[in-house]
Amino acid sequence: MQKLLDLISEEMKKAFAAAGYDGELGKVTLSNRPDLCEYQCNGAMAGAKQYHKAPLMIAQEVAKKLADSEVFGEVSAVAPGFLNLKLKESFVKAYLDEMRKSEKFGLTMPVNPKKIIIDYGGPNVAKPLHVGHLRSAIIGESVKRICRYAGHEVIGDIHLGDWGLQMGLIMTELKKRQPELVYFDDSYEGEYPQEAPFTIGELEEIYPAASAKSKEDEGYKAEAMEATFKFQNGVRGYWALGKQIIRVSIPDLKKNYANLNVEFDLWKGESDVRDLIPPMVEAMKQGGFAYESEGALVVDVKEETDTKEMPPCMILKSDGASLYNTTDLATIKDRMEQYHPDQLIYLADKRQELHFEQVFRCAKKTGLVNTDTELTYIGFGTMNGKDGKPFKTRDGGVMRLENLIREINEEMIRKIHENAEEKGYQADETQAEETARIVGLAAIKYGDLSNQAAKDYIFDMDRFTSFEGDTGPYILYTIVRIKSILAKYEEQGGKLTDIVIREATSVSEKSLMLELTKCNAVVEAACEETAPHKICAYIYDLANAFNHFYHETKILTEEDTQKKAGWIALLAMTKDVLETCIDLLGFSAPERM
Ligand code: ARG
Repeated sequence: MQKLLDLISEEMKKAFAAAGYDGELGKVTLSNRPDLCEYQCNGAMAGAKQYHKAPLMIAQEVAKKLADSEVFGEVSAVAPGFLNLKLKESFVKAYLDEMRKSEKFGLTMPVNPKKIIIDYGGPNVAKPLHVGHLRSAIIGESVKRICRYAGHEVIGDIHLGDWGLQMGLIMTELKKRQPELVYFDDSYEGEYPQEAPFTIGELEEIYPAASAKSKEDEGYKAEAMEATFKFQNGVRGYWALGKQIIRVSIPDLKKNYANLNVEFDLWKGESDVRDLIPPMVEAMKQGGFAYESEGALVVDVKEETDTKEMPPCMILKSDGASLYNTTDLATIKDRMEQYHPDQLIYLADKRQELHFEQVFRCAKKTGLVNTDTELTYIGFGTMNGKDGKPFKTRDGGVMRLENLIREINEEMIRKIHENAEEKGYQADETQAEETARIVGLAAIKYGDLSNQAAKDYIFDMDRFTSFEGDTGPYILYTIVRIKSILAKYEEQGGKLTDIVIREATSVSEKSLMLELTKCNAVVEAACEETAPHKICAYIYDLANAFNHFYHETKILTEEDTQKKAGWIALLAMTKDVLETCIDLLGFSAPERM
């Protein structure tokens, strides 16, 4: 279905043409002055130069042509030449009817849907998830849901970090504690045990212990690097042990991500492309792309138009070890061969920008991707504490994700009890906990997604969990309020089926309707620009428009049953749109709060 702005621009274009002007001048936009009008057209101003005529005259002539318009109820030409516009109530109602009948509120599906792989999450196995991984998961999940809803085929890949020094550190510490393990016996030729020689709990303790030792002891660190190298080169015992570390970590990660309402289609990791590295490196050499520089193997990725320094992309270190670049490049090769995607989207901290720029250029240059494969990097900013520095625990340590979630949930439970008390009832404890989990997640996710990804933001517990203002809980509170009105309507004997939205009879009702008309265009833009914050901004406006209408209108006590049913239909649609949008953001609403 056509977007509202396109549809009404068409009407305006016809009027420009009918008045003898270039139809293209008739582009309509949202009003800059909502106090005066709903939409506006500045075409007469642009036309003034072209036609050597006063803009106001052009605007007046165009306005005349719209006197009987089915679309615009009010068209006024105002100095110096603006066209101020209001839509006809009947037109708005008809547009909403059409949206309700269409799938996805009239969102147009792409003619050529893309196949997109989104690389997000990126946790490092055996290391606890920290808040740095939170943004990747939250934004990536939302981008995935938006693109999928917008009609593309999307595959989400967690891309586990299972290639780095943390692997060797764990192995080294294990070797100290249990030197007798077969994994460390070079002469062992049998099958390795099915069972891992550690639990996740032990693993979580081993890693920090090893990491601390390596910082104090050079020899220990060298051993860990050696073990990492053996693992990366597939030395049997080390490879098998590495796979155990990964295997034990995955269920725990799955649990953590499930708590965040985040799901991946692929659970591949860096180590999965090990076998692709040697032939890839060979091909890069053969193709004349990779050459030796100070012992390392590199590919130049500088371009003439560069204004910043662009160091070569290092493929192998001088000791032959592969790097972060190498696994990312081999993963691109794997993805292209296995899935033939049109686009690859990466979520990672914006400090990794240079890395991705180098990897993308190298992939294009060496032909790992096609010339038209889109490579997109969404670099996100840091989540800071109230002091403006990266978010830490109270004692200054790295904040673990689980703890952050626990803190939010506790605060939410407190707020829920407080809210119940204000309303004069006592909240049930188990229900409060369940609700707190749902609302707490919304608080975290909305707090994150409502900012442009690239910006840093301040994690403000009080603000994020507030039931008022531009917050997740406010949006949920609005949905819960609508649900409760709909339920009461049914209790009164009303039916939620076969009800129709009616023409608006008040300003606040019309404003709510106008907000609803934007839904399809907003989702389309959020997808095209991979910008979940656009959906946040939209639902905030929509929730405000609804609450305004609600405070001005006595819905359930209205005596005119048709009028009441019309409002109920409008509320039901508002709820549907809000619920659809929060699902695209990756959270849901509780029954009550
Ligand atoms: N594991 C990395 C980290 O913790 C993030 C991975 C981002 N994705 C990628 N394909 N490089 O920083």
